[in-house]
Amino acid sequence: MTISTRPSAPPAPGTADTGFHFLQLPGPTNIPERVLRAMHRPATDHRGAAFAELTLGLLADLKKVFRTDQEVFILPSSGSGAGEAALVNTLSPGDGILMFDSGQFSKLWIKMARQFGLDVQVIENDWRRAPCPDEIERALIEDSGHGIKAVFVVHNETSTGVTARIPEIREAIDGALHPALLIVDTVSSLGCMDYRHDDWRVDVAVSGSQKGLMLPPGLGFCAVSEKAREASKTATLPRFYWDWEWMRENNADGFFPFTPAINLFYGLRESLDMMFAEGLQNIFARHRRLGLATRAAVDAWGFETICANHAELSDSVTAVLYPDGHDVEAFRDVAREEFGLTLGGGLARFQGRAFRIGHMGHCSELMTLATLQGVEMALHLQGLADLGDGTLAARQILASESLAAAAE
Ligand SMILES: Cc1ncc(COP(=O)(O)O)c(C=O)c1O
Repeated sequence: MTISTRPSAPPAPGTADTGFHFLQLPGPTNIPERVLRAMHRPATDHRGAAFAELTLGLLADLKKVFRTDQEVFILPSSGSGAGEAALVNTLSPGDGILMFDSGQFSKLWIKMARQFGLDVQVIENDWRRAPCPDEIERALIEDSGHGIKAVFVVHNETSTGVTARIPEIREAIDGALHPALLIVDTVSSLGCMDYRHDDWRVDVAVSGSQKGLMLPPGLGFCAVSEKAREASKTATLPRFYWDWEWMRENNADGFFPFTPAINLFYGLRESLDMMFAEGLQNIFARHRRLGLATRAAVDAWGFETICANHAELSDSVTAVLYPDGHDVEAFRDVAREEFGLTLGGGLARFQGRAFRIGHMGHCSELMTLATLQGVEMALHLQGLADLGDGTLAARQILASESLAAAAE
């Protein structure tokens, strides 16, 4: 990448450099002022009593977010590090793992598993739908020797805006009477949509701080079942920094085997307090409303979502196919430069064909409406002027959904 040293043109009045910048990416997401302020503090002694108390409180409260009574670990990493921890703690070289080529992040995990010498069995699809529970059941029934040790699914595929139905995948594994561990990537679903680690009997949930938890990137999380901990006792993939047992021994007293990402912990305390004050169910309902509203706008514009199955539309990100013959990157540039609105681009096979609207984490109805309005203005400047009124459609949804919520 080349970084331009050319001085930028003076901003036009009332446009991109005035007011708030709208960072409507599907991660990293907007960080609340409260969280930023909580992190703005001097370094503290991570081996002192006050920090231990902070850690123990965070670990207990993260369990509420993952909906688990089992173990949760905080790692100094982005989501990918937490995924690596899931693999190296539970599996051995040559172990079978069932994975899905159904989006950019699903593919990232396939690459990682291959790198670790796992025997990866891949189920492919067209990236417009989630992994199919029936196909999973069939693959596991065929694996009569139980060479497959884990099924690794992305809950919310951020690159395509498709959400997998984890309870049905759990049923598929049970239906096949297969002992494989269930590993779930909750990077862009945790704190946005319903996730129930214990009820759904997920063995390892992998997540990160920079999406639903409204923090900067830098914290990874693993929620770990007893069954996964048991598997870690015999798993032989090399591990040191990511070793759960080492972490567990230290965490028991609120400490870490290494220097934790101290200031992010204070931010996490603040963001969890905000989340509990709003209530997890209310957070999920808010994301649902924002997702519905955004989809109503997409319909009104006459565009299509990448997600082709209505039952799998994501509540935290909407990925939109851009009309053929038009330049989606020029549209994103206009949105950013003229209106101060950053949208996500299409990834991998959707690069240059789609854009993504994040409505996750610290995001309100008015932020979403402003975003949709910004999209419309940028489309207009790109010559896509004869579209339906997406913002009006979104407003109607939000008004009816808000009234319904208020009446409950
Ligand atoms: C669903 C999903 N999985 C995995 C990742 C990779 O996580 P990270 O970039 O935090 O390492 C991302 C990142 O956006 C993601 O959205």
